[in-house]
Amino acid sequence: MLTAEENELLTKVGPGTPMGELMRRYWQPIAASIQLKDEPVRAIRLLGEDLVLYRDESGTLGLVGNRCAHRRVHLVFGIPCDHGLRCPYHGWRYDETGQCIEMPYDEAEGSDTFKDRVQIPGYPVIERKGMIFAYLGPQPAPLVPSWDLFMWDDVYYDIGSCVIPCNYLQIMENSLDPVHVEWLHTHFSNYALRRLGHPELKRQGFSRNGVPQRHTLIGFDVFDYGIVKRRIMDDTDENHPYWTVGHPIVFPNILKTTGFQYRIPIDDHNTYHWWFFPHRIPDGVDLPPQEEIPHYNVPLPQVGQSGELPWPLLDNNGGQDIMMWITQGDVADRTQEKLSLSDKGVILYRKLLMENLEKVQRGEEPMNVFRDPEENEYHELPSEYWLLSAESARRGDLSRSGGASKYSPVIAEALRKAGNEAALVGPVY
Ligand code: FES
Ligand SMILES: [Fe+2]
Repeated sequence: MLTAEENELLTKVGPGTPMGELMRRYWQPIAASIQLKDEPVRAIRLLGEDLVLYRDESGTLGLVGNRCAHRRVHLVFGIPCDHGLRCPYHGWRYDETGQCIEMPYDEAEGSDTFKDRVQIPGYPVIERKGMIFAYLGPQPAPLVPSWDLFMWDDVYYDIGSCVIPCNYLQIMENSLDPVHVEWLHTHFSNYALRRLGHPELKRQGFSRNGVPQRHTLIGFDVFDYGIVKRRIMDDTDENHPYWTVGHPIVFPNILKTTGFQYRIPIDDHNTYHWWFFPHRIPDGVDLPPQEEIPHYNVPLPQVGQSGELPWPLLDNNGGQDIMMWITQGDVADRTQEKLSLSDKGVILYRKLLMENLEKVQRGEEPMNVFRDPEENEYHELPSEYWLLSAESARRGDLSRSGGASKYSPVIAEALRKAGNEAALVGPVY
């Protein structure tokens, strides 16, 4: 249980809030590169700030305030130029730093200096493996972390996204909670499949002979990059990768399973969820080198106006988790919760957030801020999911595991090429 003040401290992310200041110390993903191909200017809300992201005709990316300094129109209707973004109303043009670099009418009348004194917010952006990252914190910006799965050339990547109408913290807390996998992703999942009329497809995951196994011990360790989560089930012991390897929560807002699940605060009540996943291509499947990383939308499960439950979206881990996060309320009221033994990881994560938030307040660097290129060469993040999926992927039964893989175009394509279209039907883990 938290006090109302503690809950606010951990969930409010706007400018000037302690958690907002901590989150601003990191490069945060805001779009897939391919999304700017369809629409070169996009409205972005990040950490409570309204911005527009654009790519100009020279290929330069910019992330600037969403309102023109002149008479405040929305720059999502701006025109990308050979350099910068032009306001549609009277043609003022801004560069990627937010500096106004042209005022057509004032210049025609002979005034050439006013523009130098006009600036809107502008933030650095950078691309890595088809994702665009923004940094809203104090300068100098740290390095973009070289997480292992961003550094590979022998996999196919894809990027899914969804706007979740709740605060980031309850989404992250789900990742520190292994026991929900046994209940939500097995028992509830099998109930959902019965509701969908497919009891025969019931989950074999985390089960033996169709009997779901229980968690008998869960463990959590703080390590260099965050928290490792481990488990022992009825049918595994402390020598199984579930316990010896586990998988990490990468501080402050990423879960790594076989890929990354980023939880990016849009504001206090909404979160951008990104699924950035590398996929092994099975042996013998002929796929050309990946030229462009695709993006897909993950549908939001919601209760219908007449109370109908969205069962077709609840046959997979992603949909099941999203439904739970939303039902906790837009900001979970932690003054009313009753934490139990299954919540040790949640408590540890809150403590780690609090410690790092205090570090920032003292003017120190929080966890996972890298400034030394040598130290940032390659950060390995072991995960039992990646390890355990290797053998089956090589054999060709490319698993549709990973929260949102039901909707992944890469997996669908690989399964079709492998002649395994049957695997596209049925529950998704
Ligand atoms: S409102 Fe943008 S140029 Fe006038
Ligand atoms: Fe889950």
